[in-house]
Amino acid sequence: MQTISRLDDLRTSVAKLRAAGGTVALVPTMGALHEGHLTLVREAKARAAHVAVSIFVNPRQFGAGEDLEAYPRPFERDVALLEAEGVDVLWAPTPDQMYPAGYATNVSVSGVSEVLCGAARPGHFDGVATVVGKLFHQVLPDIALFGEKDWQQLAVIRRMARDLDLTQPRADAIIGIPTVREADGLAMSSRNQYLTATERTQAAGLSAAMRKAIAAIEAGADVAASLGELAAALLSGGFASVDYAELCDADTLATLPALVGAPARLLVAARIGKARLIDNMAVG
Ligand code: PAF
Repeated sequence: MQTISRLDDLRTSVAKLRAAGGTVALVPTMGALHEGHLTLVREAKARAAHVAVSIFVNPRQFGAGEDLEAYPRPFERDVALLEAEGVDVLWAPTPDQMYPAGYATNVSVSGVSEVLCGAARPGHFDGVATVVGKLFHQVLPDIALFGEKDWQQLAVIRRMARDLDLTQPRADAIIGIPTVREADGLAMSSRNQYLTATERTQAAGLSAAMRKAIAAIEAGADVAASLGELAAALLSGGFASVDYAELCDADTLATLPALVGAPARLLVAARIGKARLIDNMAVG
């Protein structure tokens, strides 16, 4: 694996991979890799001849008072994990390379960016769209893989890729991979490291409460009442607050008052200890 931190070296390296033949897949990450990321890498290897992974803790997607400084950066460990997976290129730019002095451009995806996590974390998805747009232009991949755990992020990136023709001519170039979970159902996340042992046990209540609400909604229970019960279960189970618990159209993320036949998704964000956990599951 080549670990690269200069854009001209990246371009040379990706050009060589292309010259060798076959497609290039990109797996964008912020490092602190876990089994969820490694699943993305394995899926990328199954779909493309060459795999590039990026590690960049993107300052533009962290709000004031969020965990930019504290975000885990076990770089050497990440490198070893990616080597073991047979990744071709690790793209690891510094913040100065990604955003040189005078950097002034922002990518903003309206609508799908403004609800749910976008409402709770203003500017977050502009930061995500900006860096992912830059990563696409830097690596020029044929496909890119993202975890479905960040369902709203995936929806924002798909919208941006369509709007900015980032993945022409492939309409299916943005690939979502199902969430990888711990044995007790907790969705894997680099931020799970922030949980104490007690909070980690309580955190499993999130997916359990979501499954219960989904079973009720699918059996015909009132959506608002089921979501209210879900929030109450989290608050009595150790969570400090619930940012949102909503039934949404899976593509547009418009709130659904009831199941209407279109693909639906339950999306939840809740705080426990120092962590803000998000999760989502299909409904219907
Ligand atoms: O999901 C993440 O890790 C990040 O939001 C991403 C897509 C790598 C952009 O910084």
